[in-house]
Amino acid sequence: MKQTTGTLAAMKASGNKISMITAYDYTMARLISASGAEMILVGDSLGMVMLGYEDTVPVTMDDMVRHTRAVSRGCGDCFLVADMPFMACRISKRDTLLASARLMQEGRANAVKIEGGTEMADSIRAVVESGIPVMGHVGLTPQSVHALGGFKVQGRELAGAQKVLDDARAVAEAGAFGIVLECIPAPLAKLITEETGCITIGIGAGSGCDGQVLVGQDLLGMYSERTPKFLKRYAQIGQTVTDACRQYCEEVRSGVFPDEAHSFSLDPEILKALH
Ligand code: KIV
Repeated sequence: MKQTTGTLAAMKASGNKISMITAYDYTMARLISASGAEMILVGDSLGMVMLGYEDTVPVTMDDMVRHTRAVSRGCGDCFLVADMPFMACRISKRDTLLASARLMQEGRANAVKIEGGTEMADSIRAVVESGIPVMGHVGLTPQSVHALGGFKVQGRELAGAQKVLDDARAVAEAGAFGIVLECIPAPLAKLITEETGCITIGIGAGSGCDGQVLVGQDLLGMYSERTPKFLKRYAQIGQTVTDACRQYCEEVRSGVFPDEAHSFSLDPEILKALH
């Protein structure tokens, strides 16, 4: 059964936890969909994980549309959320609506995710009113990494915690169906989860959220440039890939590959005629 904002809200109501994983291509989307995860996020983390940038700032709308479209072909029953990239929602309402429409129409997403709190409430409201489900994203918002002074836990001091709470409230009041809570203290995430009607999806926000999200390449051990405290690796696929490729290279060099089992034969009579 295809996941919807309704099935996800029902999971919150009944206390069943929601799993979300990022994906950026068709193959990974199919594998994640087969795992039983309820949600896939095409995060702008693709800038770092897939495109090799230092942060998410250089990611463009065209990048997001191309990767979202690829994931949509393989996401099966997962509810597909796509990130609005840097500045896509901060210039004008018209630009925000056009960018959201591209992710839905060209990317075939089921919802868009908008980073930011109180200052983004009007934009979120406009997108929701146009009929597009919106996820908010508060706490550590990677698109503002330069303003925040790095990838740091948010809301540890009273003023910071109050800001995160106010941001979450503003996003919920603007009509978002869900909020990503990134890198905030676990008790604060629990408070937001209990207080807002939105589903909360945590990353580095403890177990009191309605669900969790991790970057697929992180949880699979394929991307090792950053290892935040909250990250748990469930496999070492990166090492497996390197080992397999090394063995292939050795076999090519030594002539072990390709052997007869991996080659096509030719009738000896035909070969004779060619000679
Ligand atoms: O871009 C992304 O992958 C995200 C998650 C970390 C929530 O926003």
